[in-house]
Amino acid sequence: MRKYAIIGLGHVGAAVAFQLVLKGIADELILIDTNEGLARAEQLDLQDMQGRIDTRTIIKINDYSELADTDILFITAGNILAYKEKQAQGNRWAEFKYTKNIVQDIAPKVKASGFHGVAIDTMNPCDAITQYFQENTGLSRQQVFATGTFLDTARMQKVVSDQFDCDPKNVTGFVYGEHGESQFTAWSTVQVNGLPITELAKERNLNLADLEEAARRGGWEVYKGKGYTSWAISTCAVKLSQAVLSDARAACICSCYSEKYGTYVGQPAIIGKNGVEEVTVLPLTDEEEARFKHSADTIKEKFQAFDK
Ligand code: LAC
Repeated sequence: MRKYAIIGLGHVGAAVAFQLVLKGIADELILIDTNEGLARAEQLDLQDMQGRIDTRTIIKINDYSELADTDILFITAGNILAYKEKQAQGNRWAEFKYTKNIVQDIAPKVKASGFHGVAIDTMNPCDAITQYFQENTGLSRQQVFATGTFLDTARMQKVVSDQFDCDPKNVTGFVYGEHGESQFTAWSTVQVNGLPITELAKERNLNLADLEEAARRGGWEVYKGKGYTSWAISTCAVKLSQAVLSDARAACICSCYSEKYGTYVGQPAIIGKNGVEEVTVLPLTDEEEARFKHSADTIKEKFQAFDK
């Protein structure tokens, strides 16, 4: 039995739930939200679709004790004030004062439930709030990680694939650092159809800085149009959970703890049954290494400043 739980049934939580049920990934799904009516409504809606799909998912709501034997827990809670302030400020850190309160509410309940699976966070500011959740639940750093720049990397793949008219999956390589403004694309890791983009860019006169900026702005373009993001972020979260449940030992970039920099930050890792099985250190250029350090330092400094 593959048992999943989702805390927070806003746009992201609901999109995660829909994918889990539609794809038949979860045998059991626990939906948790402070709005009981919303949790009940999502339960009913997801149950009603099951007469038209090939698989069955048992869905329960608002019972933290169910987390005791849950394999994967998604933390996807937010609120409308946080979203509005983030857009007004143009920075995901604007959500921290709201999401910290949410974590203060849910972390003790997760802890008390005896949860011992793997927790995947999508909340913002992603790297800092994941660390805050990890510290407040006492779960291990291996067990707690976040989508982080897995999403920004998908955005980079899309932006690059538009230039080369190819499948985004033909674009490999990573966006490192903060799931936020200080992220950067490590172009030395990026290949298109197996060829290094640094060479292809010279041949085609492509400005990689423009592409990097387009990837970084990707989320803001979506916010501008619909006020939130949901499909891409939920797909990233579900994909990471599948790597855990199948013990894929998949190379994914995600937000996990860096011993070197002392913070959660987007970096390549191997994801398997225990969560983050190992962090992968790739040979970056000196400039990329400096940008990685800068991004990690930015997360750490902002987190510490907030705590004061
Ligand atoms: C985004 C949110 C998840 O970038 O921060 O879509």
